[in-house]
Amino acid sequence: MSAVGWRRSLATLLGTSWRADRRGVVLVLVLNVIGQLCWLASMVGIKRLFDAVVDGDRSGVVVAAVLIVGVGQLTYLFGMRQWSASITVTERTAQLLDEELMTIAGGLPGIEHHERPEYADRIALVREDRRRIGFAAYVLGVNVRIWVQLTGTVVLLARLHPVMLLLPVVAVASFVAQTRAQRVTDAATTATAGLTRRRRDLFDLLTAAPAGKEVRVFGLTEELIGRHRRLAEEIDGVMTRAGWRSALLQATGRVVFAAGYIGGIALVLERAVAGAATAGDVALAITLAAAINSQVANAAEEFAYLRRMIGTGRHYVWLLDYAAVAGGRRRSGEPAVAVPAVATSGLSVDRVSFRYPGTDAVVLDSVSFAVPAGTTVAVVGENGSGKTTLAKLLLRMYEPDSGAIRVDGTSVDDFDVGAYRERVCAAFQDYCRFELVLRESVGVGDLARMDDDTAVLGAIHAAGAEDVVAALDGGLGTQLGRAWQGVDLSGGQWQKLAVSRALMRESPLLLVFDEPTAALDPFSEHLLFERVAAPGERSTLLISHRFSTVRMADRIVVLRDGRVAEDGTHDDLLAAAGLYAELYSLQARAYR
Ligand SMILES: Nc1ncnc2c1ncn2[C@@H]1O[C@H](COP(=O)(O)OP(=O)(O)O)[C@@H](O)[C@H]1O
Ligand SMILES: [Mg+2]
Repeated sequence: MSAVGWRRSLATLLGTSWRADRRGVVLVLVLNVIGQLCWLASMVGIKRLFDAVVDGDRSGVVVAAVLIVGVGQLTYLFGMRQWSASITVTERTAQLLDEELMTIAGGLPGIEHHERPEYADRIALVREDRRRIGFAAYVLGVNVRIWVQLTGTVVLLARLHPVMLLLPVVAVASFVAQTRAQRVTDAATTATAGLTRRRRDLFDLLTAAPAGKEVRVFGLTEELIGRHRRLAEEIDGVMTRAGWRSALLQATGRVVFAAGYIGGIALVLERAVAGAATAGDVALAITLAAAINSQVANAAEEFAYLRRMIGTGRHYVWLLDYAAVAGGRRRSGEPAVAVPAVATSGLSVDRVSFRYPGTDAVVLDSVSFAVPAGTTVAVVGENGSGKTTLAKLLLRMYEPDSGAIRVDGTSVDDFDVGAYRERVCAAFQDYCRFELVLRESVGVGDLARMDDDTAVLGAIHAAGAEDVVAALDGGLGTQLGRAWQGVDLSGGQWQKLAVSRALMRESPLLLVFDEPTAALDPFSEHLLFERVAAPGERSTLLISHRFSTVRMADRIVVLRDGRVAEDGTHDDLLAAAGLYAELYSLQARAYR
């Protein structure tokens, strides 16, 4: 996808705020502008006041004073209202964003965005920066305000005398010098980061327990302290030099600005003495000249913030685009076919080839095999041979590049993803620890029956996880997870719950086990698979490294580098004396 332009990014950010709180967005923008106009009016008030005083114009003094005070109050009031409106807009935008992000991340049919680093990074970035996105309306309001302020200041200065326009220029020059100065110190800090880390490591080495014995045996104390000191001296040298350069730059900036400031005011004073300018002009010049420095700095800071926000917005827009493409990718335009209530012939994988999107490696290469209804097929193969990928394709986390996965002859592409998913279940090696009440942690495997204790206990029984429940005083009602003042389970116990969860659905078409029992001992795993071995019409795909389990399957598919190397029953494969037979005898020997 192409790079996202800043206009689109900004428009999307504001659009999100707009949908979250229209009135708030308008309020923030309008109040910012009005508030700033009030400030400019108070500047004019100051000029009027001084002129009236000098002219001895009493009513003029009163009008100017009322203007200054009134406008000051209004600025304050608008400022307060603007601030509270900003907070509301920001909160509401953040909530809307959270919902949209959760919808994108959790609602898409595939999981590409979780597994591919460039996608996952973007999600992480947007997640971290979503507060910043929420600030869109506020930041834009502040930027608008600052430009109104700067423009107003420039106009007022120009009206005093065109030469006064040098003041903003001087302010910019001084600001640039300040920024450079900051950069010099930052660069020095970055340059010494490695040394600083080494110095800290040395300190830790000497003061923490692990190295204690060897430090003494080898008499290293003096040496380490010496190294620590030399590093400190080196860091100190770099930082001191940078400090001087930075101070010099800062001083230059200040001198330049002071020269402009004094020159400008001297000019107006000179004109006032000559009768070409009024006392009000002098007061105005002093006030504006003092303000412009911070105005320029402020403008730069807020603009930088706006830019960062637009940067984050780009990731967000990218994500929306991705979701739009990934969300609607059922291949044929045809309406979805109904998922069969019971499978008659079962599942078949037909010449399926697959590469992960954006990569070149062929992970599955024309893989074909069948899992007839009511049977269990085991898939074995070395790490990286494509077993998990195959499982993900069966669960439609990805779509094959070519070939098809069929249920009773219908390509799963033709089913609605949601409807299909309701009829499959799975347990994974990287199972999820749902830190809920135990009943729910298992029950979410079939949301409709989550609170049905009979169903939950049935699944727990099928998974051989009764011992997990029995060990807990609270039974099904036990809160899981330390963070919630609940109990923590062992890896094996969590895994048994994950398997139970996979067994919640009543009549799935397909059950996939992708090494969900690696934390169980071989005996427990064997027992478990004896219980779940494909009853009824479902097809079961079982991925395991344990041949004691694998041999129970009706058929075994051996994957090697993404291809089906062998396919048959345990006895067939042993007789064929190929890869399976070799792996089997290796493991059998290891267990003897
Ligand atoms: N999300 C992914 N993106 C790109 N390549 C992947 C991804 N997941 C797995 N792979 C690659 O696909 C190949 C097969 O992986 P996998 O299916 O996990 O193997 P197995 O489960 O048999 O150990 C490996 O080479 C792996 O590096
Ligand atoms: Mg795997």
